[in-house]
Amino acid sequence: MTSQAMMTEGSRRVAPRDARLIVGHVLGAALFAPDPSRQETLTWTEVQRCRTLIRRRAEGWPLAYLRRRAAFWDMELAVGPAVLCPRPETELLLELSQQLELPAGSWAIDVGTGSGALAIGLGRLHPHWQVAGTDRSRSALATASENGRKLAPAVRWWWGDLLTPVRIRKLKPTLIVANLPYVAHGARVDREVRREPKAAIWSGADGLSHIRRLIVEAAECLSADGQLLLEVGWGQAREVAAFGASVLHASATVVPDLAGYGRVVILRKTG
Ligand SMILES: C[S@@+](CC[C@H](N)C(=O)[O-])C[C@H]1O[C@@H](n2cnc3c(N)ncnc32)[C@H](O)[C@@H]1O
Repeated sequence: MTSQAMMTEGSRRVAPRDARLIVGHVLGAALFAPDPSRQETLTWTEVQRCRTLIRRRAEGWPLAYLRRRAAFWDMELAVGPAVLCPRPETELLLELSQQLELPAGSWAIDVGTGSGALAIGLGRLHPHWQVAGTDRSRSALATASENGRKLAPAVRWWWGDLLTPVRIRKLKPTLIVANLPYVAHGARVDREVRREPKAAIWSGADGLSHIRRLIVEAAECLSADGQLLLEVGWGQAREVAAFGASVLHASATVVPDLAGYGRVVILRKTG
């Protein structure tokens, strides 16, 4: 069977783009590669592998888990079912970090690091900062540190609940970034999202339990001129901004994504 025939067969069960990417993956194509050669003849093993992955994709498994890697910013990250598949909208946090001028040696912490996407991105963009990624999931941290070893070896990986790892090290970070769980229990989510770790998705009755708790802890931890950059879900920005401004004695800015939805809240401590 040729790769073209396999893509045509796969396209009957999944989106043509997914069939193409799965065939390319089985043939060893790089993550950002264009179409696999349409003429290539697949071995029996490759055909079986393609069919298995196409079946799993049709069952709702995220493509990133099937390919075991995901693109984020300019990086290729290893991912698996222990971590959230990094989303393009989260890149906004890295983009905003480029506008910050923190003194060399400042601590920047990515709370709930998952695959390590944000911590690694910060480490690569700002080599003069000290960066750590934290998570309460040990298996997520194992994935993050594996990615970190290849892409940003200076980044540290700390296990623990929210800012506990920072508090026990008696650090006063200048920057905290976080894309924590923010979906309200009982909310409807895509079936792909249901394949991702529950601990990466759900956060109490209104989706804000983690974010509120982080803001309260940040009030103790952040340096006097510190900032908190938070990714939030649709419709949450105003409430998070108001809560953060009052608890942190901070100025709050809501940053819209390309579609105009407020998806990041910046809280700058003012005293
Ligand atoms: C939405 S995922 C984001 C992962 C990554 N930051 C990203 O943007 O791709 C949230 C992460 O927070 C972690 N997490 C959930 N509750 C936590 C807690 N109480 N303390 C630390 N990490 C937590 C989850 O294990 C998960 O890795």
